[in-house]
Amino acid sequence: MLSFMTAKKRLGILTSGGDAPGLNAAIRALARTALNRYGMEVIGIEQGYRGLIENKYRILTEHDLSGILARGGTILGASREKPFKDRGWRNAEGSGAVDCIKKNYKHLRLDCLAVLGGNGSQTTADLLVKEGLHIIGIPKTIDNDIMYNDMSFGFHTALDIATDAIDRLHTTAASHNRIMVIEIMGHKAGWLTLYAGIAGGSDVIIIPEIPYRIESIAAHLQERSKRGKDFSIVAVAEGAVSIDEKDMNKKALKESRQAMVGSIGYRVAHEIENFTHLDTRVTVLGYLQRGGIPSGYDRILATRFGTAAAEFAAAERYGVMAALQQDVITAVPLSTVADKVKKVPDDHPLIRTAHDIGTCFAG
Ligand code: F6P
Repeated sequence: MLSFMTAKKRLGILTSGGDAPGLNAAIRALARTALNRYGMEVIGIEQGYRGLIENKYRILTEHDLSGILARGGTILGASREKPFKDRGWRNAEGSGAVDCIKKNYKHLRLDCLAVLGGNGSQTTADLLVKEGLHIIGIPKTIDNDIMYNDMSFGFHTALDIATDAIDRLHTTAASHNRIMVIEIMGHKAGWLTLYAGIAGGSDVIIIPEIPYRIESIAAHLQERSKRGKDFSIVAVAEGAVSIDEKDMNKKALKESRQAMVGSIGYRVAHEIENFTHLDTRVTVLGYLQRGGIPSGYDRILATRFGTAAAEFAAAERYGVMAALQQDVITAVPLSTVADKVKKVPDDHPLIRTAHDIGTCFAG
């Protein structure tokens, strides 16, 4: 039971959106610092914003935080609940999702809520700040696409997994003289594909920021083949677009996607085979990139974010997101982060690096 008589500060924690390796490390650091250093009470909200709508929570103690540093997923559960998207849902008293959140935040007597989430979750957090809630954001996502934040935890673990997958594809590609297309997550940004593509030595890297021309890919693969390179690896971001799709509006792009058989990796592979007649196979890495134990880097980054967020809570620095900038954790206003996506800029040094070693971007 919550001790409603105490004057201790009360911090709520929720994990929202797709899970990412390092969430438990962040929960552990945040809650431990809040409990032990700042003497707060800590309440874990279950299943992201949904738990706050339905008032599902549990008090977190040292016992809950023990043994979770290296565990994947999130001990609190997650959901993609978007409370500001009114789908007509009402509770028994007729209240909508946002009203329920405000009521339960008050009922739990939270002084502050920490939202561990990606782009969408931080945008929701900002809207809740505007509704009067005290919120501190912590950036997590394997996509690394949160504005004003150099690195989110989860990314490096996913990078290691995708790199390992490309390494494995190399040996089987070489045995069979095949083109191996590997589709990598990242939503609308190409960070994960760019990094994994370079780390794994992909011959072609296709990211959403550089719309691809199938003719350029085909020419590059045929030229490799002429030079006696009988196999090739093509890393494709799940959000990649062709040159024809580049200027399409959201609706037209959606229709173009619906016309595809399977995901983008399959379309690219099909186009490669049509153009080159080279034997081509596809691997969609999917959720393997999000599962399993976090890397050492992600555990450390998540721990840093957790302790910094506890410090912000103690100092009553609300309406901000903890952000890594030039290896320092700082506080950026949630309002500046909301509704933005950090994409790979054209002049990113890694694009130049990859070009220098002969990687084709197919633009
Ligand atoms: O944001 C992380 C991510 O894994 C993206 O890379 C991917 O597009 C999306 O989540 C998948 O979402 P869901 O878990 O809802 O299928």
